[in-house]
Amino acid sequence: MAKIIVVASSKGGVGKTLVSMVLASRLATGGLRVAAIDADPNGALADWRANVWDGPAFVVEAEPDAARLAHRIPDLAASTDLLIVDTAGFGNQAAAAAIASADAVIVPMLASRADIAEATRTVQLAQGLARAARRDIPARVLRNKVNARTAVAQHARGEVESAGLPLLATTLSQVVAYTELTHNGRLPRQAPAAVEIERLVDELRGFEWLPGPVR
Ligand SMILES: Nc1ncnc2c1ncn2[C@@H]1O[C@H](COP(=O)(O)OP(=O)(O)OP(=O)(O)O)[C@@H](O)[C@H]1O
Ligand SMILES: [Mg+2]
Repeated sequence: MAKIIVVASSKGGVGKTLVSMVLASRLATGGLRVAAIDADPNGALADWRANVWDGPAFVVEAEPDAARLAHRIPDLAASTDLLIVDTAGFGNQAAAAAIASADAVIVPMLASRADIAEATRTVQLAQGLARAARRDIPARVLRNKVNARTAVAQHARGEVESAGLPLLATTLSQVVAYTELTHNGRLPRQAPAAVEIERLVDELRGFEWLPGPVR
């Protein structure tokens, strides 16, 4: 049975699809059997897998319908090591269905006040669904497009800390290497992106959100 990681946020454009691409491509390259479900009707992840990514194969299924998605998640999870579900950036049933099936939820977040508010709502949704299901659904915020040097970033760090969100220690910088992955399908090879991706994988493994060893 796979580990199921759902990438979710009610905020659009925060990097959900990028994080799904990074994890699926890095872990497939590391030898895991990876599958992904693109639950966003825009189909960006499925399109990228079909037309851009040319590394080790992994399955991506497009399924934006909540009722069907709730069945496809356990179906696909049964025959793989890791299942990643990318969800749409607006309040939607499919995201809730996916979170209800998750072993863990990653909530990408940018630094604005609106982003912090939406990330908080998404974490609260995961906590509420966990209570409804009477099980743990850990959710952690992944700060994305971080530019540590700016005053805005330092101010944002204060706001994030006072929001009391459960954070991943890893952050992703705003660098062209990530945009390139979406265009040319090549995993970043240089710092900072390459280092951040390894840090993220290590951190997720530390939480036992990933199965088995990753090369
Ligand atoms: N760390 C980063 N550095 C540079 N570009 C980034 C980074 N993260 C995301 N992007 C770019 O920002 C844009 C939005 O990211 P992405 O599409 O992954 O967000 P999303 O949350 O999936 O959006 P939506 O809600 O529309 O599905 C994309 O063009 C992506 O390539
Ligand atoms: Mg997306």
